[in-house]
Amino acid sequence: MPENKEDLHKTLLARNQEWSARMHRENPELFTELSKHQHPFFLWIGCADSRVPPNQITGTMPGDMFIHRNIANMVIHTDLNMLSVVDYGVNVLGIDHLIVCGHYGCGGVKAAMGPEFGGAASYWIREIRDIARMHKEELDAIVDEEKRFDRLVEINVAEQAYDLSRTAIVRDAWAKGRNLHVHGWVYGLKDGLIKDLGVTHTRYTEA
Ligand code: CO
Repeated sequence: MPENKEDLHKTLLARNQEWSARMHRENPELFTELSKHQHPFFLWIGCADSRVPPNQITGTMPGDMFIHRNIANMVIHTDLNMLSVVDYGVNVLGIDHLIVCGHYGCGGVKAAMGPEFGGAASYWIREIRDIARMHKEELDAIVDEEKRFDRLVEINVAEQAYDLSRTAIVRDAWAKGRNLHVHGWVYGLKDGLIKDLGVTHTRYTEA
């Protein structure tokens, strides 16, 4: 990135030109195909963190993934934005693999482990404080602070995947016989690897 911050945005536009030219060279049909329709196989709910770009870390291309991102990859049942993405992804695009992907070192989760603070982000991560309270016993037993932080990241993903599996959209899809999978994954900033938490939901279960 250039020294002059005033012109930072121009770097993006220049890189876009290079990228477009390269894509045209490597796959001449790509833009023609993508301009007609989209058939993504995956729906991704991830953190807004700049270090966790879904397509890059999964080696996927434009058109492969329907994406929703917010701070700390939350699935809040009153979030019309998230629900619209899930509704469109499941009911219109016919996606069967829904992935909630968090990441170790998540600032949102970290903030929820600290003292209360003001502002919108504080409200947004409010639920993580409740999740930490629900799992207080397990978390308190982890002496090492970083390991406790890692574990809360994993628990948060598992809880968000669970909440996603409880939405009317997902329950209705299962009721209609759809073979829908809700996965819970965690990405490692330190090694670039995704860990499958093994909390996949494939049917409606009573709580
Ligand atoms: Co994060």
